Amino acid sequence: MDFNRIFKSKPVFALSPMANVTNLPFRLVCRDFGADMSFTEMISSHAIAHENAQTAKMARVLAGESPCAIQIMGPDEKAVTSAIRELESLRESGQTYPDFYDINLGCPSKNIMRSKSGAYLLQNPDAIEKIVAAATKASAIPISCKARLGLSSDKIADVARACENGGAGMLTIHARTASQGYSGKAKWESVRKAVEICSIHVMCNGDIKTPADAQVALDKSGAGGVMIGRAAISNPGIFNECKIAMGMAPTGIGAMDKSAVFGKYCDYSGKYGADSISYARMFAIELTRGAKGGATTRRAMSKCGNSACLAKALASLEGQKIE
Ligand SMILES: Cc1cc2nc3c(=O)[nH]c(=O)nc-3n(C[C@H](O)[C@H](O)[C@H](O)COP(=O)(O)O)c2cc1C
Repeated sequence: MDFNRIFKSKPVFALSPMANVTNLPFRLVCRDFGADMSFTEMISSHAIAHENAQTAKMARVLAGESPCAIQIMGPDEKAVTSAIRELESLRESGQTYPDFYDINLGCPSKNIMRSKSGAYLLQNPDAIEKIVAAATKASAIPISCKARLGLSSDKIADVARACENGGAGMLTIHARTASQGYSGKAKWESVRKAVEICSIHVMCNGDIKTPADAQVALDKSGAGGVMIGRAAISNPGIFNECKIAMGMAPTGIGAMDKSAVFGKYCDYSGKYGADSISYARMFAIELTRGAKGGATTRRAMSKCGNSACLAKALASLEGQKIE
């Protein structure tokens, strides 16, 4: 699967990589509700080298999940190369089926910055280019990158060029600087700059909660697609909602109430090996957002120790449909 095939039908709607959220069952739920592309949670190069069982689980992508990426982060080309070699051996032995590897150039958390990975790299486009070039060389499948605009100021032109020169085929831009965290607004004009100077595929990301937000982001940025993170946690139907609003899918497609959506998540968890209850609890709690009686239900859910308890609590809420 190359990026030109993914972007043959545009715009593309992708589920963001999210640590402690985008495990296999959650990704499958979002795919059922129209996400065209997905990403694993980020996996550090250090974890890939040292924590094999857990890493193999986090890196598990199904053959039928395509297109899906394993997201990795590391401080330099040596760490990223050895991580990719490990992942390639899992892929070659049929333990995972990623279509590409995505390099995290945007995580601003203290731990990641301290490890000189993620957003730390935004201040050094040369280092980005070296990492991407090394990743491209070590991998038989394509490489993409996910970045913010810069560390504390907008350096996206340099970052985008570094990704392209290194050989990445796609760049997703969370249109804020790392020091902004989640404050301020996504700056779509900066994404447009990257679209104009690069010939690789660009996705825009940040604050997309409704189909109208997605349309504005696409119009202002000129990107080939949108990536959606937080809004998909409480509403996996956001992908189909965008497609319906843009005339790309029929109204009512796959509508389901929230209990049934959680049931789907539990079925996938059972089928593919349940993750810790914290993932299921987080998802069930997020599904109550905006529902009448949600706060009481969330309190009850915080005490649940298994998914049957979570399902029962969710069923007590008025049925709300997700498309
Ligand atoms: C809980 C959580 C975990 C995240 N983990 C990752 C991650 O592992 N890798 C990554 O590139 N971005 C991560 N992000 C950032 C999102 O992918 C996304 O870029 C950001 O939330 C902005 O998009 P949104 O406004 O649609 O949520 C995470 C965000 C959240 C809320």
